[in-house]
Order: sequence, then structure tokens, then C-alpha cells
Amino acid sequence: MTDLGFIHRFLPGASGGSPVLLLLHGTGGDENDLIPLGQELLPGAALLSVRGKVLENGMPRFFRRLAEGVFDLEDLERRTEELARFIEKAREQYAFTGKVIAVGYSNGANIAASLILRDPRHLSAAVLFRAMVPFTPDTLPDLSGLSLFMSAGQRDSIVPAANTRQLASMFESAGAAVATHWHPGGHELGRDDLDAARLWLQKLA
Ligand code: MLT
Repeated sequence: MTDLGFIHRFLPGASGGSPVLLLLHGTGGDENDLIPLGQELLPGAALLSVRGKVLENGMPRFFRRLAEGVFDLEDLERRTEELARFIEKAREQYAFTGKVIAVGYSNGANIAASLILRDPRHLSAAVLFRAMVPFTPDTLPDLSGLSLFMSAGQRDSIVPAANTRQLASMFESAGAAVATHWHPGGHELGRDDLDAARLWLQKLA
């Protein structure tokens, strides 16, 4: 079987029409990392878990960065387009018809945010853990009909709270329905992040 352009795993859902969680790991992760999280967040959903193609000191990522929080915007654009093509090919290959919900952590949440701002038609919803503004588009896309859950750390040393607010307000100005959860700690996920995301997804699905 072809890798469809990305190393990935696909675990079918309870039915062909089940929602599909597109799992996008953080820096240094791989396609295996978020499988247990996906199974916990929405039991019965199909899981499409992708490995980022960029290596930073051997650690997989979804796009290049010049420094912590400073992104290579050309690479980001190219990698975001590659991910969009991958979703299209995976839809054909695995014949899923359910809505695609991105679930990303850190670097994975950032490429999901980039996809939302560049080519949102591939997703129905997204759960973004510790996302930051990936780039500032010249014009905002129409995000009406898109449901977004953002979970941010109050004491995150990588993503300042103001950056999270800026991203949420960008999404809202573009017409998305945005729910935000504030975790009392930093960049690492806590039990509260997962519980809040699970409840949000249950209501959505
Ligand atoms: C990024 O590079 O996407 C963010 O700084 C998050 C990270 O991967 O540490």
C-alpha cells in the first residue's frame, strides 16, 4: 500500500460514516503517539494518524522552524498544502465518509491551525492543544460552520496566553465557533485538557 505521501496509520471506525480524527503529533512524536489519545477522546471514531516529514535533530515535525516559535513560512505553506493533499488521498484510499476532525498537539496543532487558515474545507472541526498563530493571512477564510476547541496552558512558556487569544479571535472573526479551555499549568497536557476535549467532542459528534 502506498504511504499517500506521509507515513501514517489508519484505524477504521465503528462504521464507514464514523467521524475521522486526524491525529497530528508534537515535535519529536510520530504516528503512534496520539492513537491512545484519539481512542479516549472519541471511542468508535476512525483514526488517521500522521507522521510529520521534517526532521529537526532527528525529531519529526510538520514544518521547519527557524527558532522556537519562529516559523519558516514558505515551508509551512508547502507542508500545509501537502497535508491537504494527503487528506484527500486518504479519503479515497480508506473510503471514509464521516467528518474529519483534526486533533493536534503543539507543532501538530500549529499545522492544523495553518490548514484552517489556508484551506479549511478539509476539516469539519478541530481540537487544538497548545496551538499558536502559525501565520497571519492577508485575508481571513470563511470559517462559518467550523467548530474549534482550543486548549491552552495558563503558564505555557512556549505559547504565551496572548498568542492563544489572538488565534481564537482570528478564528472567531472568520466565523468559526470557538470554545477555549484554560489548563492551569504549562505546555504539557493535563487530565483536565483531555476531559474538556472529550466532553466537547461528545457534544459535537
Ligand atoms: C512549533 O514549533 O510548532 C511550536 O514551537 C511548538 C513546538 O513544536 O514546540
